[in-house]
Amino acid sequence: MTMELPLLEFKNISKEFVGSGNRQIVAIGDISLSIRQGEFVSIVGPSGCGKTTLLRLAAGLDTPSSGRILFDGEPVIGPSPERGLVFQAYAAFPWLTVRENIAFGLTVANSVRNDELINLWLQKTGLTEFANHYPKALSGGMRQRMALARTMIVAPKIVFLDEPMGALDQRTREKMQLFLLQVVWETNITAVLVTHDIREAVLLSDRIIMLGARPGRIVGEIESNLAKPRSHHQLATPEFESIYNQVISILPE
Ligand SMILES: Nc1ncnc2c1ncn2[C@@H]1O[C@H](COP(=O)(O)OP(=O)(O)OP(=O)(O)O)[C@@H](O)[C@H]1O
Ligand SMILES: [Mg+2]
Repeated sequence: MTMELPLLEFKNISKEFVGSGNRQIVAIGDISLSIRQGEFVSIVGPSGCGKTTLLRLAAGLDTPSSGRILFDGEPVIGPSPERGLVFQAYAAFPWLTVRENIAFGLTVANSVRNDELINLWLQKTGLTEFANHYPKALSGGMRQRMALARTMIVAPKIVFLDEPMGALDQRTREKMQLFLLQVVWETNITAVLVTHDIREAVLLSDRIIMLGARPGRIVGEIESNLAKPRSHHQLATPEFESIYNQVISILPE
């Protein structure tokens, strides 16, 4: 699969909200960004700079105030199973078992139930033993894998991940990072990850987009060309340090 085609294009996107007292909030100023097929892009920037807004627009959950978003060359006019989204505070359905939570991804996409596929994702996520348990029986890491499985089961072309690891402790987070890399590698999916963790962005992505706030805009971008497959050993390399330092010189932590 080629890395050259733009899969997702933001063309001069802006987004305004009406805040309290009819005050206008310019969440996103003027963002143009092109994401290639198969690319792993991370988006970093301070709280309130429009990261979630940008993902919601690309997922078709909201519409831009101006500009255009193209996916596979077609304007985005609403949600599609081709564009998966894993939320910041993901929603597990507490009344559904782990198996049914994952199966729900197919329901949302109007796909036929496919027990073989559900079993495959239970296996990939290490949740087979927990298939008939309810989400309350899962650890944070397991829940996050379940949320990823629910999104990935319909084989989207792109996945938007809004701080999917934000609530996890360091050890679990590292495991989830590896799991995410593996899923991305196996499926060759295009991924857009929002994270506050710059080390995570450098380690996981091919490119890091840095946003500034008020209004949200791109203030820099850096390629992360670390060798693949990626591993946490790379955190200690001079190559890693160099990319990390370039990011924090533009975006102090
Ligand atoms: N539905 C909404 N109505 C009014 N204002 C909104 C709405 N959604 C977002 N905003 C505003 O737009 C700006 C960008 O919000 P957004 O949630 O995209 O930021 P973010 O970069 O994801 O922040 P964080 O890192 O805290 O998650 C903020 O000023 C926010 O208050
Ligand atoms: Mg956010």
